[in-house]
Amino acid sequence: MGISIGLVGLGSFGSGFADLFKSHPAVDRVGLCDIEPERVARFAEKESWRDKFDPSDAYGSLDEICKSDLDALVIITQPWLHAPQAIQAMESGKHVYSAVPIISLPDADEILDWCDRLVKTCERTGMRYMLGETTFYRSQAMYCRRRAAQGDFGRFVHAEAQYFHDVDDPGCNLRDVRKSRFNSKSGREGQKMLSRYKGVISGPMHYPTHSVSGPVSVMGAHMTRVCAWGQKDETGDDYFKGTFTNEVALFRMSNGATARIAECRQIGHPGEEMFRIFGTEASFREDQWVTKESWNKLTVDEMRGSLPASVKEAFQKGLNTSDVYGGHGGSHAFLVHEFCDAIANDREPVINIWEAVRYMAAGATAHKSALAGGEVMDVPDWGDAPANR
Ligand SMILES: NC(=O)c1ccc[n+]([C@@H]2O[C@H](COP(=O)([O-])OP(=O)(O)OC[C@H]3O[C@@H](n4cnc5c(N)ncnc54)[C@H](O)[C@@H]3O)[C@@H](O)[C@H]2O)c1
Repeated sequence: MGISIGLVGLGSFGSGFADLFKSHPAVDRVGLCDIEPERVARFAEKESWRDKFDPSDAYGSLDEICKSDLDALVIITQPWLHAPQAIQAMESGKHVYSAVPIISLPDADEILDWCDRLVKTCERTGMRYMLGETTFYRSQAMYCRRRAAQGDFGRFVHAEAQYFHDVDDPGCNLRDVRKSRFNSKSGREGQKMLSRYKGVISGPMHYPTHSVSGPVSVMGAHMTRVCAWGQKDETGDDYFKGTFTNEVALFRMSNGATARIAECRQIGHPGEEMFRIFGTEASFREDQWVTKESWNKLTVDEMRGSLPASVKEAFQKGLNTSDVYGGHGGSHAFLVHEFCDAIANDREPVINIWEAVRYMAAGATAHKSALAGGEVMDVPDWGDAPANR
């Protein structure tokens, strides 16, 4: 018998994952949940959903779906909601997939507190948590992890990673994204809740996963010390309201390497999500494997990992396309497979809570350092996932 999954949050991002989760061969029942009924109806009324969706599995709130007997919930709600909703789901006996980041709030200490609560909830309930970090399954990251597993980098020396997403990026304008996330019942409630933080200086390091996860997942090491600086908007732009627009951090890592991470939202540069990793024997930069003697440009197919044939076929059929990998560097199909396979086989997902808090803690502590004018700070850590889970 397969697993049952409830999709919570069918807005702009969540709706792009619905057909993938529904098509996975390990899934034999899917529930749909959103406070906005028309977002549920968009899938509930589809002929192609009849095989795995029953109208009794349509839910109007997280509270309702938590009372169901579904095995797991996929939470793709607004970023300030993720952590408390994940905890509520796990306390109701459900495994959780959460969109990134773990949580985004203006206050860094509150974010770290949510990290702690999530780890403790996983430990106490025995439920599994996976962070849907798209960078983890970009082809570059998959390739570098294979190389790292073979020891091809030698000893890791240094990494550079950055997520540049200017507020006015023509491909994805952040003003429009914010407007759209506030334009729902939960969005309006969130806007009210966030207004409590007036005067608290936030920054892009509170959404650090697309930069930090590359070096951390490839090196299998985490950030231990940080000093960071932030820049503030000087134009009076209402989007930023006195927060940091750009933040850059230098980290010491648990393997002795260093890493420079940049998160920029006000930058004259096309959107870029990129990492470079340097080792004593070889390095990776801009899709190239570099040794002391040569530079080898790689294709996406050479870098990308593979899905099991049966999963790829099911996705092709479900999505009615031969290109199943989806957005964000082809990561969507891999994320969905990893979560469904982990839950179906009762194993810990690779981007489990112990891995996920390492991305978030690095960013939140970098932000605290930037607020303190570059003071060097320890990055909290919750250890590796316990081996016996
Ligand atoms: N590369 C990436 O990994 C990436 C890219 C884009 C978005 N995201 C993440 O995806 C998340 C969703 O973004 P979006 O643009 O789709 O937002 P959105 O506002 O379009 O969708 C969120 C949906 O969640 C629903 N919701 C909120 N609370 C609920 C509750 N209690 N019960 C049921 N439904 C509830 C809302 O009604 C809404 O439809 C964000 O947190 C964002 O960080 C990640």
